[in-house]
Amino acid sequence: MSCLVGKDQLVWGAYCHPSPVALFPAPTMPWSLLLPPLLLLAVSGAQTTRPCFPGCQCEVETFGLFDSFSLTRVDCSSLGPHIVPVPIPLDTAHLDLSSNRLEAVNESVLAGPGYTTLAGLDLSHNLLTSISPTAFSRLRYLESLDISHNGLAALPAESFTSSPLSDVNLSHNQLREVSVSAFTSHGQGRALHVDLSHNLLHRLVPHPVGASLPAPAIQSLNLAWNRLRSVPDLRDLPLRYLSLDGNPLAIVGPGAFRGLEGLTHLSLGSLQGLPRLAPYGFRELQGLQVLDLSGNAKLKWAGPEVFSGLDSLQELDLSGTGLVPLPEMLLLRLPALQSISVGQGVQCRRLVREGSYPRQPSSSPKVALHCVDTRERAAKGPNAL
Ligand SMILES: *[C@@H]1O[C@H](CO)[C@@H](O)[C@H](O)[C@H]1NC(C)=O
Ligand SMILES: *[C@@H]1O[C@H](CO)[C@@H](O)[C@H](O)[C@H]1NC(C)=O
Repeated sequence: MSCLVGKDQLVWGAYCHPSPVALFPAPTMPWSLLLPPLLLLAVSGAQTTRPCFPGCQCEVETFGLFDSFSLTRVDCSSLGPHIVPVPIPLDTAHLDLSSNRLEAVNESVLAGPGYTTLAGLDLSHNLLTSISPTAFSRLRYLESLDISHNGLAALPAESFTSSPLSDVNLSHNQLREVSVSAFTSHGQGRALHVDLSHNLLHRLVPHPVGASLPAPAIQSLNLAWNRLRSVPDLRDLPLRYLSLDGNPLAIVGPGAFRGLEGLTHLSLGSLQGLPRLAPYGFRELQGLQVLDLSGNAKLKWAGPEVFSGLDSLQELDLSGTGLVPLPEMLLLRLPALQSISVGQGVQCRRLVREGSYPRQPSSSPKVALHCVDTRERAAKGPNAL
């Protein structure tokens, strides 16, 4: 069944485009690390193994017309703590040290020929409770660092200044407080994606005014499933993607997102506790395109002014919230809105009907929402529509 919800009528219609909302972009890693090995093989490359430190696997990927370009991936995972420091080939692009029960890393563990040019390092699933401030200081080309699933309780300031990082994964640790300055870098301008989800964060310390290094270029920040009770002060960060899913945010009020005019995607799903949306809480987010408020069964809101200022919003996910019946009012508030999800599996798209071309300045086109219940469609099978 599908329905058409107009400004003041409810009509049954027959067509829809469900539109899945992709909130977070795939992290930008060096493309060679992203492509599955088989694809590389198919595109232009070949893969061979080469002699390697005992226990580790060294795989060489060559590509280019005459195999002129090669990268070595070294896998020393699941071998135990004795494996470090491990010698690696000179052209190593990626080193996997995951699942080794490592308790500490410092610069002597990550040193030697081959380390200077490393682009990717995986330290996930170890027992790290701290990292030395200079641990990564010799990794001058490191772009992607995975320290997820460890026991880190703190991050030293300026831990990553020497590395031109674009991806840092610190999810699933024990971090309680993180200073934004921990991510500053000498290498300027590179967009940084930081995953701090599933920690114990109750505070994010803003970058100090007048610090010697500029604020880090964090473009996407995942703070989901932490202990944040208010939206942290993220001014000065060139943020485009932000997730605060699963935090015990008490209120989103005026000024919550001050300084985040560049944000395009915001996720506030499954907030814990009794979250409240106050009028004008999103006012600063004039560039926001996607807002996810799904899974907030107890969300309280204070009328349509809540959505004031969201002039660029295209997709709004209100599924699993009590925020119905809103759609008609929202169409007036949100001039760019293209799709809304509401209730349990109902998806609506904006339709402009009876628009005449060229559009007369005087005649405003009739705007309506066209909704479809995806659960009923699923129940009826794929050919039902
Ligand atoms: C670095 O860590 C290793 C392994 O945990 C340790 O044996 C060594 O003493 C540390 N070196 C320094 C300089 O702290
Ligand atoms: C970070 O690591 C976790 C756990 O290994 C993983 O689920 C998540 O997708 C990673 N985040 C990014 C941005 O790659």
